[in-house]
Amino acid sequence: MPESQIKLYYKNVTADVIGPDHGITGNQLKQLAEKTSPLIAKLNKERKQAKTPYRDLPYSNQTVKKVKDLTDQLKDNCENLVILGIGGSALGNIALQTALNPYMHNLDDKQRQGPCLFVLDNIDPSQFNSFLKWVDDKLEETIFNVITKSGQTAETISQFLIIRKLLLDKLGPKALKNHVVITTDPQEGPLRKIASDESLPSLEIPQGVGGRFSVLSAVGLFSAAMCKINIDSLLHGARDMDTKVSSENFYENPAAIIAAINYHFYNHGKKISVMFPYSYALKDLADWFRQLWAESLGKEKDLSGNEVHIGPTPVNALGVTDQHSQLQLYREGPNDKLFTFLQVNKFDYNPKIGPAPNCAPQFDFLAGADLAKLLNSEKYATEYALLQDKRPCLTIIFDQLNPYTVGQFIYLFEVATSLTGALFEINPYDQPAVQLGKEVTFALVGKTGYEKLARKIKPLIEIDPDFLV
Ligand code: PA5
Repeated sequence: MPESQIKLYYKNVTADVIGPDHGITGNQLKQLAEKTSPLIAKLNKERKQAKTPYRDLPYSNQTVKKVKDLTDQLKDNCENLVILGIGGSALGNIALQTALNPYMHNLDDKQRQGPCLFVLDNIDPSQFNSFLKWVDDKLEETIFNVITKSGQTAETISQFLIIRKLLLDKLGPKALKNHVVITTDPQEGPLRKIASDESLPSLEIPQGVGGRFSVLSAVGLFSAAMCKINIDSLLHGARDMDTKVSSENFYENPAAIIAAINYHFYNHGKKISVMFPYSYALKDLADWFRQLWAESLGKEKDLSGNEVHIGPTPVNALGVTDQHSQLQLYREGPNDKLFTFLQVNKFDYNPKIGPAPNCAPQFDFLAGADLAKLLNSEKYATEYALLQDKRPCLTIIFDQLNPYTVGQFIYLFEVATSLTGALFEINPYDQPAVQLGKEVTFALVGKTGYEKLARKIKPLIEIDPDFLV
């Protein structure tokens, strides 16, 4: 398995392919290399100073041992694993599951090796109610993994408090520790306190690792291991990518090239970054990337405190589905996007297309071909069409989809995000703009200490009939 790689192909963003008005010229690439190289060195230095602990997650044997021990302890009594978490505490789990387990995992016992996995990253009452009805008679064989770095995200805690009561009511006080696993900060936050007071099994999110950079910690590893994803290979892939993205030679470092190209296009009117997987399995990794990119790079202020309001807008599309939904806009609408295709060269299973009936000879060209050939032909067709319209296209090529290549992908884009942040001179690790929304929620649901804010918000929630039609 370790021989399958992912590679970045970047010829189709160059002026040679799409012309100098939209493409990157040789000279511009050279300038980008000169600007980015010292930033790679700076990042490597910061890493040595322990300022970016996410970089070391793939090396934590202790975490792997803890995750495996807990998995061994719980797996026999677990038909359903339910994640309660949101944002960086959910998207990585969803992405790993979609990428590395079969599409029908939850529905087909023959395809599933571990428990069914449900990731509840919303508090929609109808959705949650439907889930509660379903799980009600399955509690004995269900484990809930509550994931929150801060230990106090209102959405996750509310879900947990509903489930906690349900478990207490239905299975009694002793059941909690057999049905709940807490993943949170090693020391801080109310959830850590609950875990210790109620003797709940728990895993740790290392300090200094933000939610969206945490998928390779216990956050993502536990559900992956429970669902039989090979976490050793996943981390192996990340470590091998670490070697590549630590290279201070710009032209050998795919994260540096991704960062520099995104930075260039943002500054040349292409402020939208479309990730376009041609593989259903990679669909949720694109969603994971969307959060990583948006929360890390969308910033009001730069490192010197200047108001910059910076940040490329990440958009997801899925090949071939969105050819029939978005492509018209992508080709003929504004030329304001950089496309990053994800392509898989070899699929594990590849159904052959059957013969056409005699009455429909126009489909003979499909007969005998396979779906992978059709899918990748459509990827090339879409890319070709975009290039005709001078739209820049990157491709990440996966030799194959497996934990090793997915681990590479995750690490590649995490470091590319750090480097893009460095190019924009912003802090990619905070998310100050998310905080106000959290505080307003506290005020609206009546948390003590937020009364003044609640009064301030009142005019917003009182509907003005003059504007209601
Ligand atoms: O990346 C981030 O830091 C955020 O998206 C968080 O993951 C999200 O807000 C959930 O936070 P927490 O894990 O503290 O519940």
